[in-house]
Amino acid sequence: MDILSASFLISNTTFKKCPQDEKPEFAFIGRSNVGKSSLINMLTGKKKLAKTSSTPGKTQLINHFEINKEWYLVDLPGYGYAKASKKSRQSWEIFITEYLLHRETLLTTFVLIDARLPPQKIDLEFMNWCGGKGIPFTIVYTKTDKLSSSALQRNLKAYSKELLKYWDELPPIFVTSAESKLGRESVLNYVNEILVAFKAS
Ligand code: GTP
Ligand code: MG
Repeated sequence: MDILSASFLISNTTFKKCPQDEKPEFAFIGRSNVGKSSLINMLTGKKKLAKTSSTPGKTQLINHFEINKEWYLVDLPGYGYAKASKKSRQSWEIFITEYLLHRETLLTTFVLIDARLPPQKIDLEFMNWCGGKGIPFTIVYTKTDKLSSSALQRNLKAYSKELLKYWDELPPIFVTSAESKLGRESVLNYVNEILVAFKAS
């Protein structure tokens, strides 16, 4: 799929105020600093579209980006930011879970996982929560430019093994790098397939 246009639309603290024009959307979520905003910039080919930072906790709101005037990419704040206060963690949980549970136009959530790390409890808990609630999600491994292919295979296998302890099937999985642009075509083609199926339904 070609990206013909990509622009920031609006930031919100509650799903209730998110755009109501029925355009389908795809959300990006994952641990703070995993590379959500960088991936959005890589996919859209616009380096400064979503704000990135080496300091975790940069994205604080539900951010809608309009793509090809047809669908939305949604940048969400990360979870697991150690320095966040208990109060801000609780408010994060409420507004993110409400968004994920009630946003009717959300077609798929991309759960980003840092490919450099062995399975993290917080990521497994989040994916198991999505699975339990019937929220469709797709795994996207990030920062794969930072490790060898053997280490990558080892970490991917370890995550799959953990997930298969709870579930019979694995969700779709993509391997990406915002740095090398690995996975760009595959993720965009996948988005396109979902959009085509959505339009036909
Ligand atoms: P929060 O908004 O704070 O939750 O973070 P985020 O998940 O949006 O992460 P962000 O895109 O801001 O990236 C965090 C840091 O990781 C930045 O310094 C990025 O340059 C770096 N980074 C992100 N993706 C990649 C990647 O694929 N490869 C490499 N080498 N660095 C990356
Ligand atoms: Mg961000």
